[in-house]
Parts: sequence; structure tokens; C-alpha cells
Amino acid sequence: MRQLLVTSALPYANGHIHIGHLVEYIQTDIWVRFQKLQGNRCIYICADDTHGTAIMIRAREESIGEEELITKMQRSHIEDFAGFDIEFDNYGSTHCSENRELCEEIWNSIREAGLVSQQEVTQLYDAEADTFLADRFVKGTCPKCAAEDQYGDSCDRCGAHYSPVEMVNPLSTLTNTTPEVRSADHLFINIERLHGFLDEWTRSEGHLQPEVANYLHGHFLHEPLRDWDVSRPAPYFGFNIPDSPDNYWYVWFDAPIGYMASTRQWCDRQGEDFNDWWAGEQTEIHHFIGKDITYFHTLFWPAMLKTSRYQLPTKIHIHGFLTVDGAKMSKTKGTFVCASTYLKHLDPAYLRYYYASKLTSRVDDLDLNLGEFVTRVNSDMVGNVVNLASRAAKFATVGLSEKYPDDGGLFRQAAQDGREIAQAYESCDYARAIRTILAAADRANRFVEHHAPWKLHKDPEKTAQLQDVCTVALNLFRQLAVYLSPVLPRLAQQTGELLGEPIERWEQSQQPLLDTPVGKFKHMMQRVDRKHLEAMIAESTEHDATAGTAVPLAETCSFDDFMKVDLRVARVAAAEDVADAKKLLKLTLNLGGDEQRTVFAGIKEAYRPEDLVGRLVVCVANLAPRRMKFGLSEGMIVAAGDGGKEIFLLSPDDGAKPGQRVH
Ligand code: 2FM
Ligand code: ZN
Repeated sequence: MRQLLVTSALPYANGHIHIGHLVEYIQTDIWVRFQKLQGNRCIYICADDTHGTAIMIRAREESIGEEELITKMQRSHIEDFAGFDIEFDNYGSTHCSENRELCEEIWNSIREAGLVSQQEVTQLYDAEADTFLADRFVKGTCPKCAAEDQYGDSCDRCGAHYSPVEMVNPLSTLTNTTPEVRSADHLFINIERLHGFLDEWTRSEGHLQPEVANYLHGHFLHEPLRDWDVSRPAPYFGFNIPDSPDNYWYVWFDAPIGYMASTRQWCDRQGEDFNDWWAGEQTEIHHFIGKDITYFHTLFWPAMLKTSRYQLPTKIHIHGFLTVDGAKMSKTKGTFVCASTYLKHLDPAYLRYYYASKLTSRVDDLDLNLGEFVTRVNSDMVGNVVNLASRAAKFATVGLSEKYPDDGGLFRQAAQDGREIAQAYESCDYARAIRTILAAADRANRFVEHHAPWKLHKDPEKTAQLQDVCTVALNLFRQLAVYLSPVLPRLAQQTGELLGEPIERWEQSQQPLLDTPVGKFKHMMQRVDRKHLEAMIAESTEHDATAGTAVPLAETCSFDDFMKVDLRVARVAAAEDVADAKKLLKLTLNLGGDEQRTVFAGIKEAYRPEDLVGRLVVCVANLAPRRMKFGLSEGMIVAAGDGGKEIFLLSPDDGAKPGQRVH
């Protein structure tokens, strides 16, 4: 029996779980359930990742303390995971005493090994928010190509990497103010001293997928490793460093130690020895992570464990990102779906099954194609697998036969498939496991169709034959339910209830179940209803109101400058189409008395001329007239929106009169 400790990356406590996160938690949960089913001793450990600037900022935004924020978020994460049948043995938090103690212990080992040095670091500082700015909180102009509105670490346009202090016109995204440049002492770990060890560890058999090892050697290990900056000056939400009281450990120092802290909580609860899980070779440690955090887990983390003489990971399983219909998840398209929103509309089993059917042992991205999602779930999972049970169970009123009937070798064949399916699960190639399971389901369905229990059922003389057919069909179904139980635990549970024996061990797929009553058949799973899928997307769609706030604010303008713009209430006296222009309507505006303006407004795609006549609008009355192809435009009307159909005219409240000034 193997002893396995399995983790997923600790989700940040500053946001909710979404379907992108779920790729990893579902992937890991399937692996853990598979190991448990195999009879291995296996624990699944996770926690919230609670420290760092982003959490501090979010707590400020919500006007609550950090601890309140992380408590609230942990509750919500636990609920979301439970909704998807993701079953942790312990779900902790990095903000706990166990983690603080382990951080101190590991830090002391690193100090004792002489790996820590102090260096001065110059960073941008937001005086208004009273915080140093992590790269992603700075925007400005690229120092290399002058592209505007770039993030503090790299440029989208020319790909240059730089430090935020090099940026031209940097702005803090927290307060929209210009940050100061300030220096502070930081603590660094000399990771280069472990270069030889890391070189060997990353190359040795089985620790990493081959493409990951190649990437590390091509990008990092071919040259000296840079010192790792592991401290942050106050204010910072995290653990104070005991031997450097003005500093805190950077969140990425204490986060992976959180794997150990959460294990320690589990050990204390179970009366287990912590060292048995983290300090001895008898335990295999498996981390599941996304490709974006490869660096931390394959270089820093092994270096920390090695220096503090803890057990190194057996394997780091790395997966790619989720795309939806071939594109990044998007709030405006409604494909950025929160776990809780999904659960309001759809069965979690659908997503578990779909992800499993697409996951392989490679680092490739996974595409959730919504059309394919519906077909795979409806035809493969419900149509091919689940229906097998309903087609047989209804007629199995007398229970299963005493002796297993002749089925032409189907049960034996599917039992033999067990080895390949197990190998596929073990190597995280779930797509292959599912393909093999579906092929067995096809064979079972052909058997049922050929023997048509629904016909036998009508002939009282064929009761024995009917019982045999149902015995075969239900046993073939049960094999599938065992094989699928890591992916579909609820289906396995329902199958156990139907046949009077819970599904708990892989070997149950190798022996038929005989001479036992069959329970009353209850529907096991519905097909995906497209309407529910659409409702989920609609609920996840953020409309322009919020998208608009993403547009950065313009430069400050003085009161006097603002007062130069003469905004007036105006009534649309006439509106007509400009036939040759794609976007323009010609408006005649009345500004009170005889004062009139002709304005060409680019609102044709959003408004019909006849709907405008008579309504009040706001107009820029003193704008210099502009000669256009179709005539002279003597002003502008005020509207919000991005253009095209997304234009929204501003109107004054009832009672305003044409000609009144807008201040
Ligand atoms: O990238 C992330 O979401 C991090 N919160 C993962 C941390 S994993 C571990 F190291 F704690
Ligand atoms: Zn650039």
C-alpha cells in the first residue's frame, strides 16, 4: 500500500473560485479518489492563500479587516468546493499558528545554511495608500517602446520586461496618483547555491513532466539563478520575520509552507505523526499546480525543503489554462463563470465529466467548448453510460441471478480493461481512461439492444432469460460505475444503493455481483438543458456599465478648464438620417428662445431619428464649429458608451428647460 500526500495550489483569499480554478481541483480530486479506491493511503490537503498586498488592498476596498475578509472567503471557497464534490482531508489557511511556526523553522534552517543576505531595493511607493506597489499595481508608459497604459512588469506591445521604477509616467492603480521612489532593505535567499541540486532534481526521472523539465533548463537553469527577494517591508499582511522585525515574509515564502501547516492540522486531528508525512521516504508527495506557478514549485520550493531537510516532492503535476470556446474566459462574454453561479444552473457532474474527458498528462491548455460540453455529457455520459442502468434496472424486479450468465466474454473483457484504465488515471491521462470506459459502455449497450429486456419482460415464459440479461447488463454497468467513480462519485453512490453494495474498491470491477435484490430504479442523471447553460452564461455576463469602469480616467483638469465648457439643456427640434453616412444623424437642437444648433451626431446605430424628436439632451454649446463632409456641425451632444449600438444619450430630469446651463 502506498502512502500519498496530495495537494492542489492554495487559492488566493481575495477572489471567488471560478471554472478556471476548477480544472485543477477536479483533476486532483479525481486522482485522490482513484488512489483511495485502489486501497492506497492518501490524503488531500489544501488551504486558502491569505497573505500579500492584493488581500490587504481588497480588505481596504471592502472596509473590513484582513482577518474578516479571509474568514469570509475561506467559508465561501469551502462551500464552492463541496458543491463540486471536491473532498479535502483538510482545508486550512496560511494564516494560522502552525504555518507561522513552520515558517520560522524553515527560515532558521535557511539562515543557518548561510543563504540569507540583506540588499537595498528601490520600489515605487504609493503615499496615499501608504504601501509599496507590487508590479501589477503600477501602470504607465513602456520605457522601451513608449506604449501607454502598460503594467509595471512588462509591455504588451513590445514584450519588454522592466522594473516599475523604469517606467515613464507611472501611476498607482490603487489611487491613480504618481508614486514615489523609495528604498528599503529586503532579505534575499541565495538560491544559486542550490543550482547543482536543482539541476539534478529537475532532471531526475519522474519529478516533472518532460516538457516542464526542458522549459526550466532552457529558461532558468542554463544560467546562474538570481537571488530570491523573500521579504516585504510594512505595511504588509503576512507574518513578521522574527529576526528582522520591520519585514514580513513575502506571500510566496509562506504559501507552500501552508501545505505542511494544513497537513499538521490534519495530523493533530487524526493523532498522526507529522514527520511520517513530511520527513520520511515512506510518503509520496504530489503537488498539482497550474503552469503559471511552475517556477515557485519547481525551484524555490524544492530548495526550501532541501535546506530544511524535509521530504522533496515526488512529482509536480502541471496543467495548462482553461479557455472557453477557444478564448480566454471573459466577463463580457459571460464565460468567466463563478463556481457558485455554475451550481445554480447545472449539475457539477457535467463539469467533472467534461474536464476528465479532456485532461491528459500534458501541460496543454484545456478548451471548454460549450457545444461539445452539451454533446459529450448528453450522448456519452447520459446516453451511453447512465442509460444502460435505466434500460436494465427497470426490468430486474426479481434481482440478480445466482450464477453469472454467459455474456460472450463481455465482463471479462471490461475487467481486463481495468488495468489500462488504472494506468491512465495514475498518469493523469483521464481522457484515455474515459475513452476506454466509453468503448466498454458501447459493447454493453449493444448487448442490451440485442437482448431487448423490454421485449422479454412482456413474455411471462422468459422470466429466467430476462433475469440473466438484466444480471449481465447491471454488472457491466456496475463495472463502469466503479471505473468512473473517481470522476462521478454521486453516480457510484447511486449505483451502490441500487445494487445494495457501496462502491468502495477498484476490485469490485473484477467480480460480478450475484444473487442479490435490485432496488427501485431512481433517475440518476438528467441531460444538460441548453436553456440552463444559456442562463448561466447570461448571469455571468457583465454589461458595459462595469466594463466601462476599466477605461482609465483622464488627466485631472482644473475647475477653470471645466467651466470653459458650456453645457446646455437642448430639445431635439428635428432629426434626420444622413443617407451617405454610416453613423451620423443630423439633429437640430433648440437651446431656448431662438438659439438653434445643427449637430451631426454619430448615433445612428443606437437611435432612430423619429424617437429623438422632442426629447431633451445635453449639448456642448460653445464647441468650435466643425466642417464635415455633410455640412457644418455646431456642437456635440453628450452620451455614454463605447460606440456602435452601445450609445446612451444623457437626459436631464423632468423640469429642466432648453437653454439651462449644466454645471
Ligand atoms: O497562484 C496562486 O493562486 C497561489 N495562491 C498559489 C499558491 S500555491 C502554494 F504554493 F501555496
Ligand atoms: Zn513596449
